[in-house]
Amino acid sequence: MYKRGHNYPGLYLHVEGPDGSGKSTQYRKIWNYLETTLGLPIEPVHEPGGTEIGNSIRRVLLDPSNKEDIAPWTEAFLFMASRNQLTHQRIIPALKEGKIVLSDRGFVSSYTYQGFAGGLPPNEINTLNRIAMENILPDRIVIFDASPEAAFLRMNPLLRGPPDRIELKGAGFHEKVRSGYHDFASRYPEMTRLVDTSDIDVDQVFEIFVKDIKDYVSAFPELKERYSKLNQNP
Ligand code: TYD
Repeated sequence: MYKRGHNYPGLYLHVEGPDGSGKSTQYRKIWNYLETTLGLPIEPVHEPGGTEIGNSIRRVLLDPSNKEDIAPWTEAFLFMASRNQLTHQRIIPALKEGKIVLSDRGFVSSYTYQGFAGGLPPNEINTLNRIAMENILPDRIVIFDASPEAAFLRMNPLLRGPPDRIELKGAGFHEKVRSGYHDFASRYPEMTRLVDTSDIDVDQVFEIFVKDIKDYVSAFPELKERYSKLNQNP
C-alpha cells in the first residue's frame, strides 16, 4: 500500500494543514526530534520561499499591502515558480544525498488554497504541480486538521502577529481550504495521513505523527536501514 514518491535515496516528507491547525508546532517538533534527538540529516524547507528567488516571490504573495488584486492564475503561477526553484535548487540535491527533506507545506496547499478554495480546477493545478516538482512526489504527506473553532483559537493575533494576505481571505475561504484537505486525503490515501488535532493535545498529535513516519520507513528495507535510528528510539 505504501509507495515511494521518487527514485532518490532520501526521504521526502510534507507537513500540511489549514491555517490554525497546529501544523507549524508539529513541524518544529519533528525537525527537532529527527535532527537533534536522533542526529539524522535533515533538509528543512518551507513554502513559499526557501531560496533567494523564492523569498522574493513570497514577499509578493503574502504582502497584505498588495492593493492590486492578484489574478487567480497569477497567484497560482507564483506559488509554482517558488516551488520549482526550491525543488530544483534544494530538494532534489538533498534527496540525492540521502537526506530527509522536511517540507512545511507543498503542492497540496496549491490544490486546496488556489484550487479547492480559490476556484481553479484542481486537476489543472495538479498538472502544474507535476511540472513544478519535476515529476517527483513526497513519500509521505501528513495533514493536520482542526475544527474551525479550534483553528480560530490557535490563530489568535495576540499570539501570532498580524495576518498575511492569504489569512485575510475570510472564514468561508478557510472552510473550503479545510474541505480541500479532506478531499485530497480521500483521493490519495496511499500517500496521505490526515490527523484530527481538535480534541487531543500537542504531544498526542506528535506521537501519531512520529508513528506514521516510522511505519512508512519500516515498509522499505533501504529506508529502514538508512534511518535505523528512527526505530531504535521508543
Ligand atoms: P506562511 O506564512 O508560510 O505560514 P504557514 O505555512 O504557517 O501558514 O503562509 C503561507 C500562506 O500561503 C498560507 O496561508 C498558505 C498559503 N499557500 C497557498 O495559498 N498556496 C500554496 O501553494 C502554498 C505553499 C501556501
